[in-house]
Amino acid sequence: MNHSQHIPVMIEELLNIVNPEQCQTVVDATYGRGGHATAIYGRLPSDARMVLIDRDPEAIAHARSVWQAMKRVDIVQAPFSRLDEELKTLKLFGKIDAIIFDFGVSSPQLDNPDRGFSFRHDGPLDMRMDNSSGPTALEWMMRVSEKKLVQVLWEYGEERFSRAIATSIKQAISNGSIQTTRDLEQLVVAAQPFRDRHKHPATRTFQAIRIAVNDEVSEISQGLELAIEALAPGGKLVAISFHSIEDRIVKRFIRNQSRGNFYPPEIPVPKEMMHPRLRQIGKPLKPGTEEIHRNPRSRSAVFRAAQKVA
Ligand SMILES: C[S@@+](CC[C@H](N)C(=O)[O-])C[C@H]1O[C@@H](n2cnc3c(N)ncnc32)[C@H](O)[C@@H]1O
Repeated sequence: MNHSQHIPVMIEELLNIVNPEQCQTVVDATYGRGGHATAIYGRLPSDARMVLIDRDPEAIAHARSVWQAMKRVDIVQAPFSRLDEELKTLKLFGKIDAIIFDFGVSSPQLDNPDRGFSFRHDGPLDMRMDNSSGPTALEWMMRVSEKKLVQVLWEYGEERFSRAIATSIKQAISNGSIQTTRDLEQLVVAAQPFRDRHKHPATRTFQAIRIAVNDEVSEISQGLELAIEALAPGGKLVAISFHSIEDRIVKRFIRNQSRGNFYPPEIPVPKEMMHPRLRQIGKPLKPGTEEIHRNPRSRSAVFRAAQKVA
């Protein structure tokens, strides 16, 4: 197992919103290395239950090694798009007081060259959060059309040189000159005529391919949708995002669910017919300067919370 640590982000904000002392059942849908889970567990009433979910086998191995002996803790290896099945099996669906999503990858995933998430280490082009199933990043790049690759780099990476990079990647795939993260990094750097001074030139491409390989957009949309149903009335949803693709999905979701049913604008609808399913809690939060100083990886975090309408 990889021993890199993950520093959990925005713990104080999380504890303030979740208020674990008042909870009976909490789900951490993105266990990682359990930083958030540990902070919450320590404040739960002694008879409360906690469910720890992650799709990554290494995260789950960590959870088992630390939490297996704990009473009233369930550990589940699954994507959170299967939240409903897993919580129904545990007879907890509709009874959750708080559910937490801390999206993206953990530091142990990023820092382990074998996982292939980072251009800062040389390793196989894998990038799967669940590295026991599905196509690796290299296999995905082999199968994807150039047109689709351009779209992925543009939509998920907001990469302005998406065409040039996609053409280079497909050429390198066809002549077998791309195998590792270092190969991909060098190819991306060479395909870009200008540099962004604030970001490594490969950041956007790696982010886009990772999102596609792990089907993250659909995972997040489904996970949020299922979370509302999983919550008890008055239960809280917390979502921490790390880039604009994730945050946009969360923001729109909370906004739409707080408005309620959709009716065409020309139809006057009384408030009682809107049936909003969520109430937004406060404004989106960002980490403070002290936290960013202590943990630079927290700098892009955006924290949003909402409560299921009773
Ligand atoms: C930022 S880390 C979470 C860190 C955690 N909150 C902590 O304090 O240690 C994100 C974790 O979510 C997991 N993850 C991401 N998308 C997932 C999904 N769709 N289903 C289940 N787990 C997912 C990743 O495997 C990773 O371990």
